[in-house]
Amino acid sequence: MDNRPIGMFDSGVGGLTVYKEIKKVFPGEKIIYLGDTKRFPYGSKTKENIIDISRECIDYLVNKNVKLIIIACGTATSMALDTLKELYDIPIIGIIDPTVSYIKDMKYKKVGVIATRGTINSNTWELKLKENNDEIVVYNKACPLLAPLAEEGWTTNKIAKLTIKEYLSVFSDIDSLILGCTHYPLFEKVIKEELYDVDVVNTGIIIAEYLKTVLIINKSRKKVEDLFYLTDVESNFINIARKILNKKINIELIEI
Ligand code: DGL
Repeated sequence: MDNRPIGMFDSGVGGLTVYKEIKKVFPGEKIIYLGDTKRFPYGSKTKENIIDISRECIDYLVNKNVKLIIIACGTATSMALDTLKELYDIPIIGIIDPTVSYIKDMKYKKVGVIATRGTINSNTWELKLKENNDEIVVYNKACPLLAPLAEEGWTTNKIAKLTIKEYLSVFSDIDSLILGCTHYPLFEKVIKEELYDVDVVNTGIIIAEYLKTVLIINKSRKKVEDLFYLTDVESNFINIARKILNKKINIELIEI
């Protein structure tokens, strides 16, 4: 059993939706979470920038002696994962490949993807979904306002509802909708009200399931103390984290 922690990063609170699902399945794993709030939002940055930023986050986590890295961010996964895998020996897991396998296993054919502008422009989801499967039709929609709304904690109010309604109005006949940005599960309730007969896919749940093939579940009852680092002053992070995780977390500010 490898008792070293798991390292995760995102631009802010979004990755906590992945953290939460992993913790449900692996309560005995210690997790080091890095919220790169200094450089939020990732979704409007260039590929080169996202690769550089991701390297800094990964270097920080590697120095903390983690055993694997989870990129709990759709933007960094779609723009940087392939490059990062070539640069590091440590296993790096993104949110796309396991989710693509899920969609294929479920035999979905009309797949909606909502994500940041950077993710949608990279076209990574569509390319991967269509790999060895030309029957799949992919409908993409960039939703650049959603991650900032989530950072503000506005995920169920009328502004959130109107914004979601507007963004989702382009989807008329889909069987599944991938939440391609890890901030978006925070809007899950509102999204499901809009698209009630569609499988709304939370990548955090898929990653947690996928991790079972990589890690042995640590059944020890010892309480593990996870660590949460931010790269800039927290404005709303602790409050939003409390809502997502139902507990108060302590954060430490770091410089990278
Ligand atoms: N949670 C991130 C994602 O999955 C980043 C959103 C952002 O920083 O723009 O894309």
